[in-house]
Amino acid sequence: MKGIEVFAPATVSNLGSGFDIIGFPVEDIGDVVVIKPVSQAEIRIVHLGGYGDIPREVEKNTASFALGKMFQKLEVKRGVELEIYKGIRPGSGIGSSAASAAAALTGANEWLGRPLSQLQLVELAMESEGMVSGSRHADNVAPALMGGITVVRSYNPLDIFRIEPPGQLYTVLLHPHIEVKTQTSRKILPRQVKLEDAVRQWGNVAGLIAGLQRGDYDLIGRSMEDVIVEPARARLIPGYDQLKTAAVEAGALNCSISGSGPSVLALCKGRENAEKVKSAMDQAYQNRQISFQSLITRVNPRGAVVQRKW
Ligand code: HSE
Repeated sequence: MKGIEVFAPATVSNLGSGFDIIGFPVEDIGDVVVIKPVSQAEIRIVHLGGYGDIPREVEKNTASFALGKMFQKLEVKRGVELEIYKGIRPGSGIGSSAASAAAALTGANEWLGRPLSQLQLVELAMESEGMVSGSRHADNVAPALMGGITVVRSYNPLDIFRIEPPGQLYTVLLHPHIEVKTQTSRKILPRQVKLEDAVRQWGNVAGLIAGLQRGDYDLIGRSMEDVIVEPARARLIPGYDQLKTAAVEAGALNCSISGSGPSVLALCKGRENAEKVKSAMDQAYQNRQISFQSLITRVNPRGAVVQRKW
């Protein structure tokens, strides 16, 4: 094999109450990684394209770092060069670091004859998340690798299940063009939570999963309520409260922060409602001094995919 090209999607995680456990990939947006075997036993990055403002150093880049861990685990003595095309802006809250790692791992696993399971790839990609954010969370890397809505039931041991999204579920994503580093937005989180808040959050997570599985849209909306993380992070996103109010008033099921922000997501029932919610959110953000992008997307049933092999 001379080369392999893999696409891995951007991902929305947390969905309100499901901090660090729930996530899904979106359609169309993602990173592409091209892997080419080389004769020297080393990993090198030879090209960074797109939103390429990310580290080129092998030990600081999530794609090469994850591959380093994989080669160590499998005792691979061969080397590869990487071309990374970033379709996702770093620090946007839609799994930019996760997508590069997921694409690189999927490509290398294919090259090596698929020695590792998806769960093992998730574990390796979590190492990259740990390197870049200080926390080995899987709610971006799991959906970026596996596709569909993924739920991390346990981190130790790692136990992840997948649920099918209900047919009319649409997502509006609004990305204010400011950068929020995951590391920063995790540092401001409370270290301890009150038992009554934990109980409320547990109820909401249970409702969110049941709602998604049953296609009970009202239950999904009610259960996105996040009493622990969102109150601490909302201040990192200028105009967040106005955005949320606009989305909910336009009929969104609910609205919350995508991953560690600054992207904001609103879940909606049906495309027509999603259009309405998107224009209400656009309008609410138009008078700010911050440029933004918004789009309507759906849960992508596919995670990282090999696009080309030659
Ligand atoms: N669950 C993570 C967080 C996602 O909210 O910090 C960020 O990558």
